[in-house]
Amino acid sequence: MDIHERIKEIEGRISEALKGVRLSKHLQEIKMKFLGKTGEISELMKGMRDVPPEKRREVGQQLNEFRGRTEEKFNALNEELKAEELKARYAAEKTDVTMPGIRGVAGSFHPNTLVRDELVSIFSGMGFEVFEGPEIENDYYNFTALNTPKDHPARDMQDTFYITGDLLLRTQTSAGQIRVMENKKPPIKILSPGKVYRSDDDATHSPMFSQMEGLVVDRGITLCDLKGMLDEFARKVFGEGVKTRLRPSYFPFTEPSVEVDVSCFECGGKGCRLCKGTGWIEVLGAGMVNRRVLEGCGVDPDVYTGFAFGMGIERIAMLKYGINNMKLLFEGDVRFLKQFKD
Ligand code: PHE
Repeated sequence: MDIHERIKEIEGRISEALKGVRLSKHLQEIKMKFLGKTGEISELMKGMRDVPPEKRREVGQQLNEFRGRTEEKFNALNEELKAEELKARYAAEKTDVTMPGIRGVAGSFHPNTLVRDELVSIFSGMGFEVFEGPEIENDYYNFTALNTPKDHPARDMQDTFYITGDLLLRTQTSAGQIRVMENKKPPIKILSPGKVYRSDDDATHSPMFSQMEGLVVDRGITLCDLKGMLDEFARKVFGEGVKTRLRPSYFPFTEPSVEVDVSCFECGGKGCRLCKGTGWIEVLGAGMVNRRVLEGCGVDPDVYTGFAFGMGIERIAMLKYGINNMKLLFEGDVRFLKQFKD
């Protein structure tokens, strides 16, 4: 076949093939068919070998021109299609900034977390730093160093989970007091929140619960400092008019030891169901750090004195939020938990 006709014939098919093309991707496929390495035009050019020498120049020129204008045709169409595709993409991706957003469902914090954070924030404001001790403790830190040696009857106050003879799940965050005093010289002002364990399980006790411990050691610290600080705590947690009172109690590691009550924030002290008619609600244990405990940690009790207090976080949460059953704090029921936004 004459080269003109071949070119015309191929060109015709190219035009035909390009008619329905809407996507640059398809255009690319067609381009490969004609202009690719093994495409028809390339094959045609390979045929130059068989063209007699005297015609080669002319045929070569024709083929080159053909290839050139075909490439241009493809390129032009490609640009057109690309531009349209871009336009379509921009239109599809356009954001209507006036559309109402999709509101994310925010979770809520567990009452324990809320109380812990509130306490940390209140006491940080008074200069306390947070120290978190280990939940698996040595007998020494949990008891002996807290003036509660092996045969001490006060050990029965807390039913202990022993891991080995010497390792146990701490029964009180007071264990952290010793760790702090061993490692830091007074002045000491720490707050120690954490989980504690006792083998108790009934309507008002859980084998795992949370405590918040406070310890202050410095020169000239007295029970008045403790009382003043607890007044501040009571007002912030339970409300402005709330007062505290101290009642004598016993802990081996404090002397004197006190039980701290707050005036009933429900009835203002007149007597109601919450305070069982007494006008007062017990919230924590505290006392002046026993000199034997200070001595054991290498702190001179003739120079330094201190106070410590410890409270149950669940108990504070129950009082503050009017939760009547402690089990609710351990069940993780979202219907209960989602009520606590702040
Ligand atoms: N650790 C005591 C308890 O768990 C509470 C306490 C802490 C008492 C600090 C006095 C001082 O019962």
